[in-house]
Amino acid sequence: MPIQKTLSIIKPDAVARNLIGIINHEFESRGLKIIAQKMIKISIEQASMFYYIHKDRPFFNELIHNISSGPVVVQVLEGENGILKNREIMGATDPKNAEDWTIRAKYAKSIDENSVHGSDSEESAKNEISFFFSDIEIYNR
Ligand code: TYD
Repeated sequence: MPIQKTLSIIKPDAVARNLIGIINHEFESRGLKIIAQKMIKISIEQASMFYYIHKDRPFFNELIHNISSGPVVVQVLEGENGILKNREIMGATDPKNAEDWTIRAKYAKSIDENSVHGSDSEESAKNEISFFFSDIEIYNR
């Protein structure tokens, strides 16, 4: 299986509830390495760029408001089949539909405050990683 990097965000609802350590443990204990990580506050403008693909969806305004409502931890995770593995560990978008063992089932508050973001394809992983990180900030073996 390919070793892949993916972009993860621990969202404001999870940071506010002191879940950074627990969520990092979920990733690390299930085979993903944290190879870059920083805490930032995303502005409304940056959020609109990051989520541009959702600009016509009815939840867009709420989405960009939520992600910029407080500090987040942006991180690059790496592992075998890392993109899909992270999506599995996160669980379904709506925590009500997420499998019991996943981060969203255990910690998300609702579909809009669902604790984590993860890239959904190789192309989005590449774009999303470079949106937040320069090469020098990412550990490369
Ligand atoms: P999406 O890309 O569909 O989900 P995922 O985060 O699982 O890849 O949606 C992006 C984010 O938009 C999602 O994490 C939370 C928010 N959202 C809502 O607030 N309401 C909704 O009905 C949907 C589908 C998403």
